[in-house]
Amino acid sequence: MVRYSFIVFCVSFMLACTLFSNCDASHDNPKLYIVYMGSLPKTPYSLTYNHLSMMQEVFNDVDATNSLIQSYQRSFNGFAAMLTNQQKEKLSQMEGVVSVFPSRKFQLKTTQSWDFLGLPKSVNRSRAIESHVVVGVIDSGIWPESDSFNDQGFGPVPKHWKGVCAGGTNFTCNKKIIGARYYIDKSARDLNGHGTHTASTAAGNYVDNASFYGLAQGTARGGVPLARIAAYKACDDSGCQSAAILSAFDDAIADGVNIISVSLGGYSQDPFDEDPIAIGSFHAMARGILTVNAAGNEGPNPISTSSVAPWMLTVAASTIDRRFIDKVVLENGKTLTGISINSFTLNGTQVLIAKKNGGPNCSEDDANACNCLDSNSVNGKIILCDRGHGILEDDVNPAGVIIQSRRKGSPAFVTPLPSLSLSITDFQLLKSYTNSRDNPKAEILKSETVTDDNAPTVIGFSSRGPNTIAPEILKPDISAPGVEILASFSPVVSPSDYKFDKRSAKYNIISGTSMACPHVSGIAAYLKTFHLDWSPAAIKSALMTSAKPIKSSEDEIGEYAYGSGHVNPIPATNPGLVYDISLEDYIQMLCNLGYNNEKVKLISGKKNACSQPPNRSLVRDLNYPALAIDVKPTTSFTINFNRTVRNVGLANSTYKATILPNPRINITVVPKILSFKFVGEKLSFTVTVIGDKPTTTLTSSLVWSDGTHNVRSPIVINVSD
Ligand SMILES: *[C@@H]1O[C@H](CO)[C@@H](O)[C@H](O)[C@H]1NC(C)=O
Ligand SMILES: *[C@@H]1O[C@H](CO)[C@@H](O)[C@H](O)[C@H]1NC(C)=O
Ligand SMILES: *[C@@H]1O[C@H](CO)[C@@H](O)[C@H](O)[C@H]1NC(C)=O
Ligand SMILES: *[C@@H]1O[C@H](CO)[C@@H](O)[C@H](O)[C@H]1NC(C)=O
Ligand SMILES: *[C@@H]1O[C@H](CO)[C@@H](O)[C@H](O)[C@H]1NC(C)=O
Ligand SMILES: *[C@@H]1O[C@H](CO)[C@@H](O)[C@H](O)[C@H]1NC(C)=O
Ligand SMILES: *[C@@H]1O[C@H](CO)[C@@H](O)[C@H](O)[C@H]1NC(C)=O
Ligand SMILES: *[C@@H]1O[C@H](CO)[C@@H](O)[C@H](O)[C@H]1NC(C)=O
Ligand SMILES: *[C@@H]1O[C@H](CO)[C@@H](O)[C@H](O)[C@H]1NC(C)=O
Repeated sequence: MVRYSFIVFCVSFMLACTLFSNCDASHDNPKLYIVYMGSLPKTPYSLTYNHLSMMQEVFNDVDATNSLIQSYQRSFNGFAAMLTNQQKEKLSQMEGVVSVFPSRKFQLKTTQSWDFLGLPKSVNRSRAIESHVVVGVIDSGIWPESDSFNDQGFGPVPKHWKGVCAGGTNFTCNKKIIGARYYIDKSARDLNGHGTHTASTAAGNYVDNASFYGLAQGTARGGVPLARIAAYKACDDSGCQSAAILSAFDDAIADGVNIISVSLGGYSQDPFDEDPIAIGSFHAMARGILTVNAAGNEGPNPISTSSVAPWMLTVAASTIDRRFIDKVVLENGKTLTGISINSFTLNGTQVLIAKKNGGPNCSEDDANACNCLDSNSVNGKIILCDRGHGILEDDVNPAGVIIQSRRKGSPAFVTPLPSLSLSITDFQLLKSYTNSRDNPKAEILKSETVTDDNAPTVIGFSSRGPNTIAPEILKPDISAPGVEILASFSPVVSPSDYKFDKRSAKYNIISGTSMACPHVSGIAAYLKTFHLDWSPAAIKSALMTSAKPIKSSEDEIGEYAYGSGHVNPIPATNPGLVYDISLEDYIQMLCNLGYNNEKVKLISGKKNACSQPPNRSLVRDLNYPALAIDVKPTTSFTINFNRTVRNVGLANSTYKATILPNPRINITVVPKILSFKFVGEKLSFTVTVIGDKPTTTLTSSLVWSDGTHNVRSPIVINVSD
């Protein structure tokens, strides 16, 4: 039996913890845990030996060697081990341990998209500089033979590169893919397609005339076609273990990547010291490497993003101006238009049926939903299915499938046979037509592309804020194209993700925040070529403050969908001002969030971590390029945000503050004018927000402008009990 579902997004990697395994230990069987120990010690010594002796201490007389699964010791300190609950408890009390948490399964979450973003092929690039940038991709591996990873014209690997090509059996690197490692399976080869798609979106080379069976035809390329790629395989079809994600970060940071792209995520907002992506990206940030992370595909529910740490850049998914439609033409000449990415054509009209026989054990409702079907009644016919969630038996072979779509604003999916989904209205129209005729017939056409003038809008599945771990940090940070994106794929994987679909595609069209994330990774790498010395926070600030606010639906707070707005690459290269954040600032924030001094000392590797007593109300003074805060309903409030900007534009420039008015709040900026004499100069200001008995979330924005640069920050006052 093959699941035939139109509800899953792209390649779906499900989590294990809540679905497959019982997370609370009723039996004390050993389970895989992460023992996180913070920064590397200043004086080098054998950490493996240290990890083993800690293990031995809790294992008593039993040999612990085989239970130590992985030592992290290149970029941060810690290990993964099989532990019983009792051993875990003992270890978490030991000196030097920050946190012990179970390893969980994380979900792995183009042609036109770059033009739509305003980064055309003709954009100014320097091969000399761009070819020094290495984008590290933590994903399901890579298909090294893809045209997108052709290394023609590439020079020797950059001098700073310290990685290796350890891709396993039958895996060769070249001057484009300069590094490969794997922490699952027997090679870094991508047997899923996801990792190849994301890596080629971030940094794939130019490939002319790429398409999916002629659809979305054009030149495929990544954000930095001249940059190098290092692939770290931490995921397979079933997802990615925390332990493997941490191994990938440990290596990528030490190997010398310049940007880390992570198109995967969890399902909950976890404390920073129990979230492998937050831990890995913290140590990356401490070494000057920005991590870009997908927001997740759990939207549009609020609080659905699991990517909440301030040192990473969290990316939501939005539409581009190219969408896919598909048409069904009835015998009477009438045409109904739905959506799908259908590369098939029917040989003329075929019989349409709405009533289907599902066999002896199938209820009428299940048969209508195509959950169970009898081959005699459906083979060779176009069937109508009430729900986009059904099962096609292996021996069932309909000519086509038309599905009623109950979700508005879903993306189109690659279909394994001639198929499309129709709106409820059109589906019901087609159903009555079918039922009213003796021998109704129709033809399903091949999909075509149309222009969507509404783009960009954030797609429904993209995970939303707010951030409950640190409400002062607005999440997600930015949106980027993540809907119906064409990029390189693994030719051994079914492009529709259905086993009976035996097609092999070099390029595939998929949707997800997983596709949005590498767009921003590519742009961050592009920025890096202009500003080699900028900190991760400065690059992040440039991307956020130049982002364009976008349309959002009436019934949600847009900032919780897209953060600062839609990524805008060219203005980001010249942002005028940046909000920078140092490692020390993040450390102070951890103290103020309530992480105790011992923990923060271990995490940061600094002696005097929390020098001042923790003060929660100072968290909002982290120099973040967005302003957010929780307030209690039905009270009045006065909130100050302190910020400092650095002039990265021209000497002798004067910036004036503008506030987008919101009648429910009064916002003042002091001073209102910032006059910079020289480049690199820093000036501070305070934003005061005064409100009275708010009942709903209030938003505004602050723009610093010198007439050329508009440096924009959203302001979000969240009302929360
Ligand atoms: C392209 O970039 C180089 C180096 O950054 C710069 O000197 C040159 O002026 C740029 N050209 C254009 C057309 O922007
Ligand atoms: C190596 O992998 C490629 C791509 O899958 C395949 O075509 C080739 O046959 C493989 N070679 C060996 C020796 O397995
Ligand atoms: C471009 O690709 C299409 C579809 O794969 C193919 O039919 C066509 O011949 C190709 N054109 C060129 C110029 O290679
Ligand atoms: C259409 O007809 C051609 C030629 O008879 C055949 O090869 C092809 O498989 C048919 N396509 C479908 C979708 O039935
Ligand atoms: C129908 O269900 C009954 C009871 O579960 C089972 O015994 C029988 O084998 C099923 N028949 C078919 C054709 O699946
Ligand atoms: C915390 O910081 C706020 C804002 O600067 C200040 O008003 C308050 O007094 C501080 N609280 C403590 C306990 O130091
Ligand atoms: C915030 O800025 C104001 C005005 O410059 C200053 O008085 C205050 O001390 C600052 N607060 C903090 C916590 O730095
Ligand atoms: C900035 O202004 C000062 C004073 O007017 C002047 O001396 C200096 O040359 C100016 N710098 C630049 C780069 O224009
Ligand atoms: C904003 O300021 C005006 C003028 O001082 C005042 O009338 C109004 O009540 C204030 N609004 C809020 C929400 O504080």
